[in-house]
Amino acid sequence: MPISFYSRFRSPHERELIEDCLMGPMASDGDCAARVQGLFQSRLHTNLPFLTPSCTHALELALGVLHLKSGDEVILPSYNFPSAGNAVLLAGGTPVLCDVDPDTQNLDIDDMQRRITPRTRAVITVHYGAVSCDMDRLVRLANEAGLILIEDAAQAVGAFYKGRHLGTIGDFGAYSFHSTKNISCGEGGALTCAEKYRQQAELYRECGTNRSGYLRGESGRYAWTSRGSSLILSEWCACLLYAQLLSLEEITSRRLELCEAYRQALLPLEESGRLRLMSVPPDCSSNGHLFYVRFDGPGTLGRVQNRLHSQGIDARTHYVPLHMSPMGHALGYRDDDLPASRRAYETLLRLPVHPNLSVGEAQQVAQVLAHAL
Ligand SMILES: Cc1ncc(COP(=O)(O)O)c(C=O)c1O
Repeated sequence: MPISFYSRFRSPHERELIEDCLMGPMASDGDCAARVQGLFQSRLHTNLPFLTPSCTHALELALGVLHLKSGDEVILPSYNFPSAGNAVLLAGGTPVLCDVDPDTQNLDIDDMQRRITPRTRAVITVHYGAVSCDMDRLVRLANEAGLILIEDAAQAVGAFYKGRHLGTIGDFGAYSFHSTKNISCGEGGALTCAEKYRQQAELYRECGTNRSGYLRGESGRYAWTSRGSSLILSEWCACLLYAQLLSLEEITSRRLELCEAYRQALLPLEESGRLRLMSVPPDCSSNGHLFYVRFDGPGTLGRVQNRLHSQGIDARTHYVPLHMSPMGHALGYRDDDLPASRRAYETLLRLPVHPNLSVGEAQQVAQVLAHAL
């Protein structure tokens, strides 16, 4: 029986809620969006002012309100999806890539610090696998250097650092509800932001108009007031999102159970030095978004992945580091510039984790992996 890498959680509520939604006006930022925001508030203590069509759009919204000038720099980790780099470029800034911590694949704070210049305006940290870096230290450094801190929390709904929901610690936080994420509506995202950016973000997200204020009855008409775009999640997607969020605890606990099953089954291989397991530092509580192992080199990685595939098990590598991509080369980086990011690219393999996978199947995956080593 093949074991897929992803499989969508089917919420028991979604059909009924979607039928209700179909009967409504379908206007964006309507009842379904309000319910999603209510659940984020009540279950995750997170104020979620802006639902967006994707995390990519949420990052573009955040960068869009910073008014970057040509030559302004934004630091972000290379082991990453391209969205943050694109958002910096689209906002007129220069992305500056830094290396990652080999223990977590998150931004390496020391390397980040070395790359701060008088032109640096912001830093974008990624919570890889829903595990954060030392946010206390990062917040302190950002404050000292006068930098805006943006959390790319694409994978991190329901994950915490010292009890604080990831995405709520910096000035901005961006979430993804893409079909590959724990909570999904196919395509979707959201942005949190510090109060001082809220009004500008509201204007930007509504094509640079004060339409939201007009809908609240604050003015008789609305008009073009600033630069912006249309970055609003459809009510239809918000409805699916709400249905999924009702099962947040169940989804998270099933995923965490699978991660624990992998950990138990593969621990002897780590103890004998044959691989390294994903680690979660004590201050972090993950949401089981992913589970990965690290091998000694690309040869072992390829061999194990092929063996798993031959047994119908879909295990996947992850990002091509931004500095090693064609765009990274065009920006002037060479493959050897950021060794820990390169190493993650060469040695990291993600194992299947989704709510439709059983613990028995996870143990079977671990067994095939062990035989392939
Ligand atoms: C770290 C990170 N940021 C942003 C994104 C983009 O998310 P979306 O597909 O919602 O735009 C991804 C996609 O997986 C991601 O891994």
